[in-house]
Amino acid sequence: MTAFINGCDASVLLDATPFSPSEKDVEPNASLTGYTVIDDIKSALEHDCPATVSCADVIALASRDTVALLGGPTWSVPLGRKDSRFAADPESTKKGLPSPHDNLGELLTMFSRLNLDARDMTALSGAHTIGMANCMHYSDRVYGTDRDEEINPSFAQTMQQTCQGPSGKAPFDVQTPMRFDNAYYRNLIARRGLLTSDQTLYGGGGLHDNLVEMYSADGEAFARDFAKAMVKMGNVPPPMGMPVEKVVVTLWMIAYGTLADMTHGYFRKIQP
Ligand code: HEM
Repeated sequence: MTAFINGCDASVLLDATPFSPSEKDVEPNASLTGYTVIDDIKSALEHDCPATVSCADVIALASRDTVALLGGPTWSVPLGRKDSRFAADPESTKKGLPSPHDNLGELLTMFSRLNLDARDMTALSGAHTIGMANCMHYSDRVYGTDRDEEINPSFAQTMQQTCQGPSGKAPFDVQTPMRFDNAYYRNLIARRGLLTSDQTLYGGGGLHDNLVEMYSADGEAFARDFAKAMVKMGNVPPPMGMPVEKVVVTLWMIAYGTLADMTHGYFRKIQP
């Protein structure tokens, strides 16, 4: 969700300097991975085709290809993003990202700042059909100390076993954690959402319940809406006046840390 702070500008890749902190070092990003994959792709590109492809485009393309490689949809990525020359400051980084404890209203507000509506948000959240979360992000939910989104008791018990200390981790989707499918929505209906912010999408009635039920029954509808929302999110521009590098066009690649990076980091960039 790197787009959430200042648009899709790859600023999350910048290392700290004595004069500027790095977004990488701020807690919500502590578990992001895949930086070296992007660095390697960028080095190969710079060797063959200097100053042409931005890191932001590489991240957008890598995210797309990650999803496809894991069995999900593919889409055309509009290119031409420019890389930021500065990282966002740590406070905006923290404030700009949605929290795993957020309720539906808070999530909708975050996404609407990127011009993403309820349908986009529900579809994008389906990315939590792959990957893992650290215990600190789901412990309140599985130990029953977070707000009261319903949780399947046997799921809570199993997840407590993976969450006994700071190194605990669990897959979002226990059955098929490396498959980009619509299992996320079936899990929500079974009250097996790992994060409070996942489960809040289902159970309150209304539009979100309808969308979750539709995506759980119709994988193609999910794939279509997810692809559409990824293009929309990938087009979030940096705010006017942000200093950016000059670059132009294309390329490709993998590693699913980049999907989390692209999306989670995006949120930071859109601070009012
Ligand atoms: C709705 C708001 C969201 C919240 C609150 C949220 C929160 C989180 C948290 C807490 C984790 C676990 C991080 C860790 O412990 O390592 C995570 C992982 C992940 N998120 Fe999200 N997320 C959101 C939306 C999204 C979106 C929109 C996408 C992509 C379109 C996405 C893709 C991922 C992926 C792929 C992972 C797994 C990363 C890994 O296994 O390394 N998330 N998210």
